[in-house]
Amino acid sequence: MGVPVIVDCDPGTDDVAALVLAHALAQRGDLDVAAVTTVAGNVDVEQATRNALDVVGLLGWDVPVARGAAKPLVADLVTAAEIHGTDGLLGVELPTSSRVADGRPAWQVMRDVAASSDQPIDVVATGPLTNVAVALATYPELGERLRRVVVMGGAFLAGNTTPAAEFNVYVYPEAAQRVFTSGVPFWLCPLDVTHEAYITADELGQARALGSPGAVLFADVIGRYLPLVARYSGGRGAALHDPLAVVYAADDSLCTSAECFVGVETRGSITRGMTVTDRYSDTKLERNGHLVETVDRAAFVARVLDLLAVG
Ligand code: RIB
Ligand code: CA
Repeated sequence: MGVPVIVDCDPGTDDVAALVLAHALAQRGDLDVAAVTTVAGNVDVEQATRNALDVVGLLGWDVPVARGAAKPLVADLVTAAEIHGTDGLLGVELPTSSRVADGRPAWQVMRDVAASSDQPIDVVATGPLTNVAVALATYPELGERLRRVVVMGGAFLAGNTTPAAEFNVYVYPEAAQRVFTSGVPFWLCPLDVTHEAYITADELGQARALGSPGAVLFADVIGRYLPLVARYSGGRGAALHDPLAVVYAADDSLCTSAECFVGVETRGSITRGMTVTDRYSDTKLERNGHLVETVDRAAFVARVLDLLAVG
């Protein structure tokens, strides 16, 4: 088996799409998903956990789902119900699965998976970084047991939740700062790249035609999400933020990346949650992470469709 991976998410429509792809990658042996953990973000953590349980139930995916943090430690929870709906699914009906959440909190599952692995593990974070920060604070030894964190978040040009901040970082900037300064290697998939990782309505039609439960669910949630977010991709389609992070974690040939300084503004009045990246200057700021800079959209969408054919 490969490196154990934990998918930490806030389902949410694109997180649901990412879980469908994570399942397909796991089926193929391309991503060894050891657990799914949930965090408050797009919706509250109870709804996020319910959605994750129903998605893995629909897929027949035998993977633990563990509930994480209900809110940041230092701020009220900000959700994205205006984009994802209060149910996180934009009204897409999911059969209520009989699955129940793991009895451990998300951060304990992260620690336990890492402790029982013979090699350091990966975390793919597609929601606010609350759980990862809590895990690192609760278990200081965990940092040595994480090979990397692949993060969907941040931006090097402009935000989506504010002009400066991307949602996942905006919800809890201090958590992102904690992760980015922890010494754990991280790869940041920012909006500037995920907005180019869009899927068109025609390509969604191809996905639906594949007919598997995962493909139909993917097409249903992203199909409802598309008109709400097409403007971010120049009207061309729906940005697959979280699916890109998951697929990238299995195959980094789809994108280019570079070592980079990544900082987080935590005190600004209008810039709180802004990720500050030093891509060009010679400020000699420590290159503490890696910034994903481009994506081969055609190759990415082809991989998505190939994976959706798995089911
Ligand atoms: O800014 C986009 C990110 O915020 C995605 O992960 C989306 O699901 C929301 O969590
Ligand atoms: Ca998300």
